[in-house]
Amino acid sequence: MSPPGRPKGEYRSAKHEGTPVSASSGPVITNIEDLREEARRKVPRMFYDYADSGSWTESTYRANESDFQKIKLRQRVAVDIEKRSLRTKMIGIDVAMPVALAPIGMLGMQHADGEILAARAAEAFGVPFSLSTMSICSIEDVAANSKAPFWFQLYVMRDRDFIGRLIDRAKAARCSALVLTLDLQVLGQRHKDIKNGLSAPPKPTLANLLNLMTKPTWGLAMLGTKRRQFGNIVGHVKGVENMASLGAWTAQQFDPTLTWADIEWIKKRWGGKLILKGILDAEDAQLAVDSGADAIVVSNHGGRQLDGAPSGISALPAIAQAVGSKIEVWMDGGIRSGQDVLKAWALGARGTLIGRAFVYGLGAMGQAGVTRALEVIANEMALTMAFCGHTDLKKVDDRILLPGTY
Ligand code: GLV
Repeated sequence: MSPPGRPKGEYRSAKHEGTPVSASSGPVITNIEDLREEARRKVPRMFYDYADSGSWTESTYRANESDFQKIKLRQRVAVDIEKRSLRTKMIGIDVAMPVALAPIGMLGMQHADGEILAARAAEAFGVPFSLSTMSICSIEDVAANSKAPFWFQLYVMRDRDFIGRLIDRAKAARCSALVLTLDLQVLGQRHKDIKNGLSAPPKPTLANLLNLMTKPTWGLAMLGTKRRQFGNIVGHVKGVENMASLGAWTAQQFDPTLTWADIEWIKKRWGGKLILKGILDAEDAQLAVDSGADAIVVSNHGGRQLDGAPSGISALPAIAQAVGSKIEVWMDGGIRSGQDVLKAWALGARGTLIGRAFVYGLGAMGQAGVTRALEVIANEMALTMAFCGHTDLKKVDDRILLPGTY
């Protein structure tokens, strides 16, 4: 984080950069990969696997990360880089860096009370948090246990009455934007979730019990909370008193008939800032502009939906060129470092969402791990910007990238 006394997102000396932090009983954390390793040790297998997999062959999931590596940066020297700022705005909201926490289902299974902890870490760091429809902690619970307004992510379900009430609940909780996910009307197949029998909370099968015995910190924290079910749904939908399986619920309830006409009524009912997530094609991006949305997220849902779709970073430039002057274009997928965020910015993304990068932090160390993930990304970004000869993120464009590599 920026040192005490300095505004969030502003960097000066190298003193604080890369400060390592120890997980309570683990290794020194210097990068996101360290948090991933730690999360793998701490989180029950079915939830670690849920976060850390893509659909079918996982080719898109892998490309999201590897395509970032192909893009090379131009090193520039002998520029005064003492004071640096990553500050900007996303849909008019001040952010310490152009990064928001993506909506992730079942955060409260990565760590007890996960949604509340992540929201608090985001708030303290000065970046937005988005709460998934499929969260464990409910909208009201997160609002009561955090201060900054958060964003609410909406899945459209067949029960439109329930959707209408969800939108109203998000309004009542003072959510500052609605993130409408458009790429999950049917669920991509992730082999591990089926094999692991993914459910929340885990069913007490022998395999699960044996695995849980190896995760005592997770188990103890989970015993200390009442939040173990899908908080936005259980008790709010007729006939759903207990709902364990995301897969079964999705198959029954998510609405495959969703069209642009529905976006119109959702926008009207919501009446606030609208972000459309899951755009991967320039024609859809134009339709999103026509719909009157405030921002789009170029996204393949972390490689979890259409396997074989292009990576987020490779789809970004054409979309940014097509509609970047008419709507805020953001991207997600594969971001594991501040360099990745900077590359996305250089290619026209005015914001990014991170998913796994903070989920690993949450699983590894709870709120402190999410904070650490944000610190790692911000420090890497501020340093990289300096190496490229820049001090103000707002002045960075594709001239920091080596031609022919993107
Ligand atoms: C839900 O968003 C999922 O990808 O499982």
